[in-house]
Amino acid sequence: MQVSVFIATTLDGFIARTNGDLDWLPNAEAEEAEDYGYQTFFDAIDVLVMGRHTYETVRSFGEWPYGDKRVIVLSSRAIAIPRALTDHVTAHTATPTEIYQQLRAEDCQRVYIDGGQTIQGFLRAGLVDDITVSRMPVLIGSGIPLFGSVAADIHLKHLTTIAFANGIVQTHYAVVKESSTDAAG
Ligand SMILES: NC(=O)c1ccc[n+]([C@@H]2O[C@H](COP(=O)([O-])OP(=O)(O)OC[C@H]3O[C@@H](n4cnc5c(N)ncnc54)[C@H](OP(=O)(O)O)[C@@H]3O)[C@@H](O)[C@H]2O)c1
Repeated sequence: MQVSVFIATTLDGFIARTNGDLDWLPNAEAEEAEDYGYQTFFDAIDVLVMGRHTYETVRSFGEWPYGDKRVIVLSSRAIAIPRALTDHVTAHTATPTEIYQQLRAEDCQRVYIDGGQTIQGFLRAGLVDDITVSRMPVLIGSGIPLFGSVAADIHLKHLTTIAFANGIVQTHYAVVKESSTDAAG
């Protein structure tokens, strides 16, 4: 099972402003022709695991953007999932390792992890296989960070970098797994 991160950041490493605002991202409608590989990536995943904050942000957009793709929302509290989404969206209180083991037992092939704290949790547990970061050419000074503290260095292997004409630089890394620190076993 492959566990992937696919995310946009500012050059200074933020995934949203402190208040959650994403106004620094390019206007999706204006750039309709270019999706930076998102749809190809999304089509390849079986399940999307996201943190509550990301779920709430996505819900605030109005239209649910993930169709009938399976989505797992992580939270330590009970979340009311609207009836229209309950066929595809479930909420769980579980550690990254518990989620990983459950999905692997179900024979999931590829999992998408989203949300800063959630990504950090899966990284700390040694469960992320690859990270695609699309860096926007903007500095916003403060915000919600993609990365956080780690117990030990996490090494990455550079796979590819694409520089788009509008200044977005997308880099794909593989996470180097040390067998002794791989919590998935
Ligand atoms: N730039 C981008 O591409 C991009 C992508 C995704 C999200 N975002 C933005 O990033 C922001 C959200 O990121 P974030 O770092 O604040 O948080 P997040 O990871 O979306 O959500 C954090 C919350 O998820 C829950 N959670 C995570 N792991 C858990 C676990 N193992 N067990 C139980 N609960 C767990 C906790 O909820 P409880 O507090 O309920 O326990 C935690 O407070 C939003 O503004 C969103 O729009 C940007």
